Amino acid sequence: MNSEDNVINTSLQADKLSSSESAPVIEIWGKRPLSGHISVSGAKNSALVVLAGTILCSQDCRIRNIPNLVDIGRMADVLTALGVKVTRNGDTLDVDASSISHSRAPYEIVSKLRASFFVIGPLLARLGVARVPLPGGCAIGARPVALHIRGLQALGAEVHMDHGIVHAYVPGTRGRLKGGKIYLDYPSVGATETLMMAATLAEGETVIENAAQEPEVLDLANFCRAMGARIRGAGTNTITIVGVPSLHSTDYGIIPDRIEAGTFMLAGAITKSPISLSPIIPEHLTPIIAKLAEAGTRVEMEGHSRARIVPGEKLLPIEIETRPHPGFPTDMQAQFMALTTLANGDSVITETVFENRLQHVAEFNRMGANIRLTGNSAVIRGVPQLSGAPVTGTDLRAAAALLVAGLAAEGKTTLHGLHHLDRGYENIEAKLSAVGARLRRVPSSSLVADSANQPVVV
Ligand code: EPU
Repeated sequence: MNSEDNVINTSLQADKLSSSESAPVIEIWGKRPLSGHISVSGAKNSALVVLAGTILCSQDCRIRNIPNLVDIGRMADVLTALGVKVTRNGDTLDVDASSISHSRAPYEIVSKLRASFFVIGPLLARLGVARVPLPGGCAIGARPVALHIRGLQALGAEVHMDHGIVHAYVPGTRGRLKGGKIYLDYPSVGATETLMMAATLAEGETVIENAAQEPEVLDLANFCRAMGARIRGAGTNTITIVGVPSLHSTDYGIIPDRIEAGTFMLAGAITKSPISLSPIIPEHLTPIIAKLAEAGTRVEMEGHSRARIVPGEKLLPIEIETRPHPGFPTDMQAQFMALTTLANGDSVITETVFENRLQHVAEFNRMGANIRLTGNSAVIRGVPQLSGAPVTGTDLRAAAALLVAGLAAEGKTTLHGLHHLDRGYENIEAKLSAVGARLRRVPSSSLVADSANQPVVV
């Protein structure tokens, strides 16, 4: 292992980049056909929660297929602050939580990575106490955690709020949560994951009803099972967990990222390019593949984990409403909006999962799109052509969607807001360059007064 292997993309690096005046941008020269193959990385949202789940285990765990992302670096920072040893070697993380020493997650990191709140469940299960700052909202919505907290209370935890910190503990001397019946008002991914982790070490049986069914929930359950947890029903709306006294060491591989794969499918569809990608788990992409077909682009499987984009003659208008899995994923809403800007007709996209996840509409309109917002719906009248423009990604998926739009736009698009993009897409410029896209990352300070609406060779 060389010294670089140990270095995880840290939050410090990310903060420097996002706050600096020369924060980088990506310049994209559009209208290039793409060809070739793209490799899909491990799923960010699985990796984040599986890392939190390692706290449950008093032996060491090896987690493979971890994407190298700013958010993963932040989760590793949280674990380290709790006394967990985290060592990286390529896409493998060795995590040793045997001598976890703190029950308090640092505000500085939790405020930047909402998912780090999810450590509350495993901390409480393992130590009988957890102190985790309220994560607060983010660009896409207020993102409350009431369902996590009510569920933990149903498992016997006392929870109170003190100076912005959620303080949870198990009363009594034995410090073990008690199994219980939990009905979630909404199938929240994070609440399901928090409660499933908490219940693995509880005394007795827990049933979570109206649970989230996302593939990342199932991945977490499989990881916990690999450590000896007794969980059934994950991936359906009812999960049953029979608590065990302790969990053991394991070696576990994270599933491929369905949202990264979906984003590359959209890059193929919008540029009408027959690119292929792997590995994917096609069942995880069912709503994405179905909507692509309605929009005139087929996805053909070549073997069980490799897909090829088969572009149609025309991009067709579609209607989308985001929903919890197996409905259409909110994390693909912005990318599909990019596609519909160029469709032959009017599309309607309605966001129902997050209350503020349509900020990219204004950015697409800067590129010549014709989108009107009415409440939480966007009516997109297809235009024949997008024109490259300076645009800003307002959240992670919005940034990816603008990049996708830039691939199809006439001239140069300059994408700002890369601190969002880098949270969720590993090596995205390298992956897209390798299939023929023209794009490069430069410090914004190096942008000169439109000297070059010209392609460069990268
Ligand atoms: N909600 C509540 N109360 C709660 C919890 C959630 O009202 O206690 C609401 C939220 O405000 C939101 C809705 O329920 O309106 C859905 O939130 P959910 O809890 O399901 O989402 P999450 O766990 O916070 C994860 C992903 C998101 C993804 C959503 C939905 C991780 C780390 N994040 O968030 O990923 O959009 O599920 O699928 O797993 C992304 O990757 O870009 C991203 C935002």
